[in-house]
Amino acid sequence: MSILRTSSGDVSVDRRLDYAELMCAENDFGAACEILEDAMSRVPDWVAGWVRLGEIATKAGKSDLAKEAFEKALALDPADHFGASLRLDLLRPVSLTDRSPAAHVASLFDQYAAKFETSLVQKLGYRVPELLASVLPEQLGKVLDLGCGTGLMGQAIEGRFSEIIGYDLSNGMLAEARRKGIYQRLEQKDLLALELTDERFDLIVAADVFIYIGALERVISWVADALAPNGIFAFTVEEGHEKGYTLLESHRYAHSEVYLRGMLEAAGFGSFEIRATTLRKDRGADVRGLVVIAQGVRRAHDSAGEDFEFA
Ligand SMILES: C[S@@+](CC[C@H](N)C(=O)[O-])C[C@H]1O[C@@H](n2cnc3c(N)ncnc32)[C@H](O)[C@@H]1O
Repeated sequence: MSILRTSSGDVSVDRRLDYAELMCAENDFGAACEILEDAMSRVPDWVAGWVRLGEIATKAGKSDLAKEAFEKALALDPADHFGASLRLDLLRPVSLTDRSPAAHVASLFDQYAAKFETSLVQKLGYRVPELLASVLPEQLGKVLDLGCGTGLMGQAIEGRFSEIIGYDLSNGMLAEARRKGIYQRLEQKDLLALELTDERFDLIVAADVFIYIGALERVISWVADALAPNGIFAFTVEEGHEKGYTLLESHRYAHSEVYLRGMLEAAGFGSFEIRATTLRKDRGADVRGLVVIAQGVRRAHDSAGEDFEFA
């Protein structure tokens, strides 16, 4: 993040902030820390300032100061709009977080919504919706798009479903999706707080969404229950090489194939296929991911589903 203005009206604080940023631009993070620490003593309740101090202290190699700054931000803003918990986690030898905070995801994507498609699709070569669309059967029935964002997935499979519903945390993203006029229903929901209702879906899809969730057990077990008999579950993750899931420097999570297999089996999926692919670019490099298509949830009195094969 880049520095924000305080609303303190204290010109001397704003001047210190400018100076700290100037020091950062010159890679003098030690000096920037000292200046920002001094500024924060005048505006101790300013959450964004603590997060910025934590970031700069991390770059300066002052991890104790960084931890202290992120902890102060979290104490002032327990909902964690700035993602201080993720930044703090990256300083720990072993990660403690299992998701990106809901308030952080919502404010990040609310800010990003209007330029999401130009940045991601045009500049970063994002192609996950098309990729998923190309491996799914032609007729999709009733679809649920988890983390639907601006509705690119709905657009990629337009004409192939009887109905499509989208859930997302960000109202800004949902407003963009609404403008497309493709979805019958769009609802603000946290994927980690979904309740099971009587509604069942023939396809549940999550395109580039699980990168904001580390522990997928809860949402995948919800999906297994919310699928109609022989319904399909299709999603992507960034490919991780450690055993479970890993929080990356990008503040996204990566998941290993072994973890996904274990979890899909535990959730009762009778057949699934996992393929490696490229999801998009990040700073010029390909981001490697996994495309997963799962089917045939075994229920107590069911026999196993048919084996799934990519279309
Ligand atoms: C990278 S965008 C992808 C959007 C869309 N699926 C696409 O392919 O264009 C990730 C989306 O996931 C949503 N998201 C992340 N975590 C979420 C959660 N826990 N519950 C609901 N939505 C979430 C974000 O708000 C954002 O719109």
